[in-house]
Amino acid sequence: MDVKVFKNKTELSRHIADLMIEKINSHDHLNLGLATGSTFTKVYRMLTEGYIHRQLSFRSVRTFNLDEYVDIDEHHPETYRNFMNRHLFDHVDIDKDKTHFPPTDADIDYKEYDDLIEKLGGIDIQLLGIGVNGHIGFNEPGVPFDTRTHKVRLEETTREANKKFFDSVDEVPTHAVTMGIESIMGSRMIILAAYGHHKADAVRDMIEGAITIDHPASILQKHADCLVVLDEAAASKLKYSI
Ligand code: GLP
Repeated sequence: MDVKVFKNKTELSRHIADLMIEKINSHDHLNLGLATGSTFTKVYRMLTEGYIHRQLSFRSVRTFNLDEYVDIDEHHPETYRNFMNRHLFDHVDIDKDKTHFPPTDADIDYKEYDDLIEKLGGIDIQLLGIGVNGHIGFNEPGVPFDTRTHKVRLEETTREANKKFFDSVDEVPTHAVTMGIESIMGSRMIILAAYGHHKADAVRDMIEGAITIDHPASILQKHADCLVVLDEAAASKLKYSI
């Protein structure tokens, strides 16, 4: 793992956005794996500004989001599709037919999403946030490392953490479909970002702890090209890595 620490969310977002602009511009086609949540909102704003200032185009970009809530009205502003529209897709020249989300219909084989990703060339760069319990995507502690896209019941701590996007915790869906750990590990490059003191324990265990399904993000220690971008608060409990 390559660990980089910046002063705050703005500076870490600048680093990630610049890297993505450089990658998008230097490839004919790029498949991006995208994450929702608060971690990447500034990155998406910077990419939007980059597009407005003609620093990049999304015409040759295809996207695959990590996860989507189940049993949520498709017009609800907090579906992950609507989140991505609002924070990025509505403001840039991406072809929305090339923006993909895990299927959430009850009668579907969720692994079709992995097959689609594979058929379209695999993910070049996967953005990842981390949950306070070490989850990546919505792979909660205990999920086997060889899992592909699947449906999950969200932990109460995760619903609590995500209530900031809803009127109350009762409104947060109880289930989601997420890429599995194996799906995520198949990406050619991973950029995991975290900011804030509330992520410091999860970040320490991910980087310096044992590799265990009890802390899903710890598997990233085994990825060949994983960049971890932190602010000083999220990095504050690291002992050896910075
Ligand atoms: C959420 C999402 C993840 C996200 C993570 C961190 O529950 N499913 O994809 O990366 O938890 O969220 P946040 O960025 O809001 O801290």
